[in-house]
Amino acid sequence: MEKIIIFDTTLRDGEQAPGASMNSLQKMEVATQLERLGVDIIEAGFPVASPDDFAAVSAIARLIKKCGVCALARCIYKDIEHAGKSVKKAKHPRIHLFLATSKIHLKYKFKKAEDEIASIARDSIKQAKKFCSDIEFSPEDATRTEKDFLFRMVEMAIKEGAHTINIPDTVGYSYPQEVYSLITDIKNNVPNINKAIIAIHCHNDLGLATANSLSAVLAGARQVHCTINGIGERAGNASLEEIVMAMKTRKDVFGNFCNSIHTKEIYRTSRLVSKLTNFVVPPNKAIVGKNAFAHESGIHQDAILKKRITYEIMDPHDVGIADSQLILGKHSGRHAFGDRLKTLGFHLNEEQLNKAFGRFKDLCDKKKDIFDDDLRAIVEDEIRVAKPIWKLDSFEINSGTKIKPVAQVILVKGGKNVSANSSGDGPVDACFKAIDKITGFKAKLDDFRLEAVTSGKDALGQVSLRLKINDSIISGRGASTDIIEAAVKAYIDAVNKLENR
Ligand code: KIV
Ligand code: ZN
Repeated sequence: MEKIIIFDTTLRDGEQAPGASMNSLQKMEVATQLERLGVDIIEAGFPVASPDDFAAVSAIARLIKKCGVCALARCIYKDIEHAGKSVKKAKHPRIHLFLATSKIHLKYKFKKAEDEIASIARDSIKQAKKFCSDIEFSPEDATRTEKDFLFRMVEMAIKEGAHTINIPDTVGYSYPQEVYSLITDIKNNVPNINKAIIAIHCHNDLGLATANSLSAVLAGARQVHCTINGIGERAGNASLEEIVMAMKTRKDVFGNFCNSIHTKEIYRTSRLVSKLTNFVVPPNKAIVGKNAFAHESGIHQDAILKKRITYEIMDPHDVGIADSQLILGKHSGRHAFGDRLKTLGFHLNEEQLNKAFGRFKDLCDKKKDIFDDDLRAIVEDEIRVAKPIWKLDSFEINSGTKIKPVAQVILVKGGKNVSANSSGDGPVDACFKAIDKITGFKAKLDDFRLEAVTSGKDALGQVSLRLKINDSIISGRGASTDIIEAAVKAYIDAVNKLENR
């Protein structure tokens, strides 16, 4: 069996998705879960980008013991120094260097000749080696690079001591056969290629990231870059869950390969990343979407009952999706509640547990049946790590078909109530405008989504939204049985994130 190394870049390329940014504590929470999931290497960030990024990568480097921790750097000394220092305390540190090699980038981005690029890369690998022995090198935009120059760069990088050569399809332009040929050509034309591991890094601009990554594996790549839920720059990166489950499900094709992912942790990881980045997983998303294992048509349901494999190629339990069950009600005690949360994978401290239990009891007053997904929603709300500066005290709306909606919102900051009134195009808009008056931010609503967490008229509603404030995109999430309250909470959540920056 040949091992495919899973290189997770959720915390670096994934976090580059607009609005997906996380703070250090949130990144540590994701890193801990990625370790539990069994990834081999965590690309923890781009340390030179900001002091916060540096702090987050350093904290993850100290925290994570089983997997490698990698920091990204351009071929610039300052980047390399930051990357090297940030992973110094890691048990298995790695520096990932990248430099564009395609004609388009050389001409328009760098205005440099091939020889200059080769010499910058050579010097940078030498510098990086002084900080860390494990170096990965990426010729950025490799799939649009002249092949002869690509072979030359790869050979040089290996000679200088890079142990992994990553081939990025930076703009998601390639298709599977092309990727297969490229990896094959690299193997046949780079004399020292056997001294390195070939990695693949695909973007999803044409929806081909997973197919391209798998094609690279078949051609000889032994490390795959991927992200949870496929989040990342633009249309995202290759998704970890798709690659891993494709390899598991299609044993006839990938039977000679193995990886270290504990697939039962996939769903939990997906939810955590979705919660902390506020990136809603589309219902039709392969493997982790709400509908991925739902069968609507009567013909399908009938056949499934007769024999599952008629319409189901994977067992949902293999990715950690259990049937949503009725589990607790208003007579359930704190102990049963805590036990259930542990089963769902939440590890709360005493204070968080008390707060979550209070929310659970409130919910029991409003809703008869409490499902696992309801519990997840309230607990996920409660274990947010960013300290809220603004809290909701109360709101009142006056709305109807014949009147202009008006809202009064009261927020609490530092123990003091601050209130404002506003009218709006609808009750939610009126509340948002009142909040803007209180906080002094001028926010533009960029995206607004409402979904029912479970089914039924009393279902908990969850609002996920994105705000544009100045040049930043900030996301927020809130849940309640009252959808206006869920929207108000989501808005306050986004404002608090902005305050915490
Ligand atoms: O897409 C890309 O080329 C990258 C590099 C930094 C590897 O993310
Ligand atoms: Zn990328």
